[in-house]
Amino acid sequence: MRKAMLTVCVGVLAAMPLAVRAQDIREVVAMPPGIQHDMLIGMRDHLIVLDTILSHIATERYNEAAALAETRLRASPFDPAKEATFSAYMTPDWKEADAALRQSAQGLAAAIRKLDSDRSFAASKALAGAISNVTVVCVSCHARNRLR
Ligand code: HEC
Repeated sequence: MRKAMLTVCVGVLAAMPLAVRAQDIREVVAMPPGIQHDMLIGMRDHLIVLDTILSHIATERYNEAAALAETRLRASPFDPAKEATFSAYMTPDWKEADAALRQSAQGLAAAIRKLDSDRSFAASKALAGAISNVTVVCVSCHARNRLR
């Protein structure tokens, strides 16, 4: 009995990496190494920006938080020259996610400013929703795309 259980467990463990790989339905977005490098720098910046926005909100530096949301959350480069090159590698799905990120970031900036002006429970609830509207774009693009 124990031996049968062990055989089943080992079998499940051995099959797991394959099963996990089979479930990876993310599309590979092909980009040259230099473009990938710049793109990943931008991605890591997103985490820093989100963290800084939350910390500014916690310390009531609403103007700084809103300005960061307006200017630093997008899934394409900030440098216009790099943006033109990068756009050649953006799939239609990527472009859509980039637009959604920019739009949700504008919504976040507006929600931060609203909380600053009326300081109500409704405004803080709306702000929580606006933060989630941004992070859901990160999560959904990561669920659909990968570099390799
Ligand atoms: C348009 C699609 C898209 C959007 C939107 C997006 N990402 Fe990414 N991100 C990617 C892809 C693709 C990778 C590479 C993942 C891979 O190859 O496994 C990545 C990688 C990352 C990494 C890892 C960086 C590294 O050096 O390995 C971080 C951190 C990250 N994203 C944060 C974010 C955050 C935070 C947001 C939202 C504010 C976000 N991303 C929005 C597509 C996106």
